Amino acid sequence: MKKEMLVCAASIKCFLLVAFLYRNWSKSKKWLLKLFEKVVSDAERTNPSETTSKTLLQHLLDNLQGKHLAPNYGLLMLWASQANAVPIAFWTLVFILSYPTVYKKVMEDLTSVFGNAGRDEIEVSEEDLKNLPYVKWCALEAIRLRSPGAITKKVIKPIRIQNFTIPAGDMLMLSPYWLHRNPKYFPDPEMFKPDRWKEANLEKNAFLDGFVAFGGGKHQCPGRWFAIMEIQLFVVLFLYKYQFVLLDAVPKEETQSNSSNAMGL
Ligand code: HEM
Repeated sequence: MKKEMLVCAASIKCFLLVAFLYRNWSKSKKWLLKLFEKVVSDAERTNPSETTSKTLLQHLLDNLQGKHLAPNYGLLMLWASQANAVPIAFWTLVFILSYPTVYKKVMEDLTSVFGNAGRDEIEVSEEDLKNLPYVKWCALEAIRLRSPGAITKKVIKPIRIQNFTIPAGDMLMLSPYWLHRNPKYFPDPEMFKPDRWKEANLEKNAFLDGFVAFGGGKHQCPGRWFAIMEIQLFVVLFLYKYQFVLLDAVPKEETQSNSSNAMGL
């Protein structure tokens, strides 16, 4: 009896917590959608006729069926373009700084393209970025090590995977986090090794086998090459202009096995 009451009290507490979090989440979403209604109407009002002067949102609006969903798509674009690219830009910088040989090599490359580092302003062209493949490999290696824990899809038609039939309606999850730590694809998986990307055919827009940070299929991240380019650009500008020193060593990552707070994957 006592045990039942305890379980019941725990369930109520849990429900209240979820309801409370959901209410805040729902309030924030409503606020953001309202904001995007205004952003969308401004974008529509100022939509130029020449394609080259349009913003990404204006291109999206031109091609969107179901205009009432435009604020939701605007919000999706904001979330999708910021949620991964910003933290990964940070991690690329941190990884480079924590491996002195990598930092040295990046700085040598920057000097060979732009001259001695430290100048106030440089202009970085597409050609310059092409001449800095090592920085691109650093960005890809940081993406490999810091990519999302799970990409979720709903099964529409039953599918067979090995000996299992997955029924329609079930959710399937792919974990870039764990796949990127499979030594079959990435020897020494925990190490930050930009050189492993030498093997990838990036000119043909192909990643390394086993790399799924951007998902796959029809809904694969459409911003992937833009994301890699902007991270590369960010690293180039920051490292060229400033000298960095890490104040502390990068903390070891906590996984489910050694932390009770880790997210279940
Ligand atoms: C390192 C940075 C990024 C990572 C790791 C990343 C990763 C992902 C992943 C895993 C998905 C889901 C793919 C799937 O469901 O199969 C996705 C979707 C998406 N991403 Fe990215 N992304 C990044 C940057 C960006 C940027 C910069 C943009 C826009 C400029 C962007 C736009 C989108 C959009 C619009 C979707 C939804 C696609 C759809 O559902 O059809 N992403 N991204």
